[in-house]
Amino acid sequence: MGRVGEQAAMERALAIAVQGWGRVAPNPLVGAVLLRDGEIVGEGYHAAFGDPHAEVAALESCDDPRGATCVVTLEPCAHEGKTPPCADALIGAGVARVVVAVADPNPAAAGGIARLRGAGIEVSVGLCETHAAALNAPFLFCASRPDRPYVALKLATSLDGQLADATGKSQWLSGSEARAFVQWLRAGFGAIGVGRGTAVADDPLLTVRGPLEPRRPPTRVLFARDGEVPRRLRMFDTDSGPVVVVIPHSRVADVSEAIVNKEVMVMGADSLTAAMESLRRQGIQSILIEGGGRLATSLLDEELVDRLYWIQAPRWLGTGTPAFTRAPISLDAAESWQVTERRALGPDTLLVVDRRLCLQV
Ligand SMILES: NC(=O)c1ccc[n+]([C@@H]2O[C@H](COP(=O)([O-])OP(=O)(O)OC[C@H]3O[C@@H](n4cnc5c(N)ncnc54)[C@H](OP(=O)(O)O)[C@@H]3O)[C@@H](O)[C@H]2O)c1
Repeated sequence: MGRVGEQAAMERALAIAVQGWGRVAPNPLVGAVLLRDGEIVGEGYHAAFGDPHAEVAALESCDDPRGATCVVTLEPCAHEGKTPPCADALIGAGVARVVVAVADPNPAAAGGIARLRGAGIEVSVGLCETHAAALNAPFLFCASRPDRPYVALKLATSLDGQLADATGKSQWLSGSEARAFVQWLRAGFGAIGVGRGTAVADDPLLTVRGPLEPRRPPTRVLFARDGEVPRRLRMFDTDSGPVVVVIPHSRVADVSEAIVNKEVMVMGADSLTAAMESLRRQGIQSILIEGGGRLATSLLDEELVDRLYWIQAPRWLGTGTPAFTRAPISLDAAESWQVTERRALGPDTLLVVDRRLCLQV
């Protein structure tokens, strides 16, 4: 293997950090690589909440870290949490240089860069910053926005932008690889939400059923307004995790009375913004909205979507349930979102776009 530069080492650190997906929240995903003379001499990632942080895992994997460069995706922490400060571990191990992708905006954990510099270690910040900010978008968002969860929208559409055919059938528009990806995706969110139209049409379970078992099962959330909430739905099985129905305040008593499972929480909120604020107060830091089109459109109109995971299936449906029914937006006024990822999922295509990333908080 040829010499590894700091850029390639950071790309490696970012790639291994993802392995903590679903297991580390509310902590961030972090990867670290130790480099000496262009050779990787150690690496590690934060694998589970409460487990050693990435820097410590990397140090533990290395015979002799003295004089090495530590390339890490997030500022090393400076606080005593479930584990001792990583900045101190790096200082104690005698590393010579630290390369950080993105600073930690969390006031409780930040300060690692200053502590390292104070100990005479050279620190460089900002390598692959955009990639690192996208990797930890929910964590960085929550550190600066205590008012609502990070909101991601996931939709699978036909080539002509339909979520379902003219009869309302959407299972399965996308292929097995895309469905497996969605199971993996769900594991990393604090909550999974759908509109009442989807709950009635598909009666989805909204549980995580892939090989990745999340640290905590996501809360399932149903957004309803004027229509009848069924007495029983498969997602109301609270043995698989908490369930919340969001409904205008005026209907809370009636809907609570109607739902058979009394462990389902019925939450009053008169707008989507208010609903998101209430969910955050319940401790939900991130939510994946899985449709349908009307809920998606309202969330976009209310500027409540931070990321879109769009799965495009190579089929035409002509008509059906459109993914978005927004009012006209002129080209001059149209906001450009940032492309974070494009990849094939079997025959389908995944596009991940971010509205804005929290780079400097
Ligand atoms: N391909 C995919 O990825 C995918 C994903 C999901 C769904 N689908 C398909 O999409 C169809 C359902 O989509 P849909 O657009 O008809 O329904 P939807 O978006 O799932 O649900 C719409 C309902 O959400 C409730 N809601 C609460 N707050 C709202 C707000 N502020 N704005 C808008 N709605 C709000 C309303 O309930 P009330 O009626 O109580 O007022 C509204 O009728 C189904 O055919 C399903 O199979 C496909």
